[in-house]
Amino acid sequence: MAWYKSFGWDGRYTKLEDIITAQITNPIQMGETPESIVNKLKATGNYPSLFQKAYNQDINVQNLLNALVQFTVSMVSASTKYDSVKQTLLSFTAAEQAGYVLFQSKCNTCHTEPLFTDGSYRNNGLAVKPALNDLGRMSFTGSRNDSLKFRVPTLRNLYKSFPFMH
Ligand code: HEC
Repeated sequence: MAWYKSFGWDGRYTKLEDIITAQITNPIQMGETPESIVNKLKATGNYPSLFQKAYNQDINVQNLLNALVQFTVSMVSASTKYDSVKQTLLSFTAAEQAGYVLFQSKCNTCHTEPLFTDGSYRNNGLAVKPALNDLGRMSFTGSRNDSLKFRVPTLRNLYKSFPFMH
């Protein structure tokens, strides 16, 4: 997240705190308000003093969002086998090397190393689901050029990001 310039499948959020707010308030995600979360945190035993320690302030919406942004950007993937190979500490097996060559020729243009995304929005040819009526980035920019384009997601921690695609 620390390296993305915009957030969300269509890139409509330019700040991490904006997509965090959207996830808190979205009725099919948390269906909450930041203010109500602040009140819940104020009623806990440990968070008021932890916020005092970190921010020298009572809990409020701004430092709640700051804390969530800091937590999110602190989760950095940089110690995979891939990273060790790049640091010449380990080597790929023959099968991994063959996969890597395949990856570089078929995937790396969009899922560009080492973040495994070039940060762009693209149409990867996924079949359109009319029920979703999801036009991708066009629904945000209004430009026909952005029709059916979605964020190129990183492939790091892929085993945790299922279900895949928008
Ligand atoms: C033309 C650019 C492009 C190329 C080339 C490409 N991808 Fe993607 N990939 C995308 C986009 C865009 C998405 C998101 C699409 C969506 O959400 O509808 C995506 C999504 C994915 C996802 C889902 C990740 C998630 O967290 O949801 C996987 C896995 C993936 N690609 C693997 C690959 C592999 C493996 C290759 C090479 C064989 C490849 N991609 C080549 C653009 C590309």
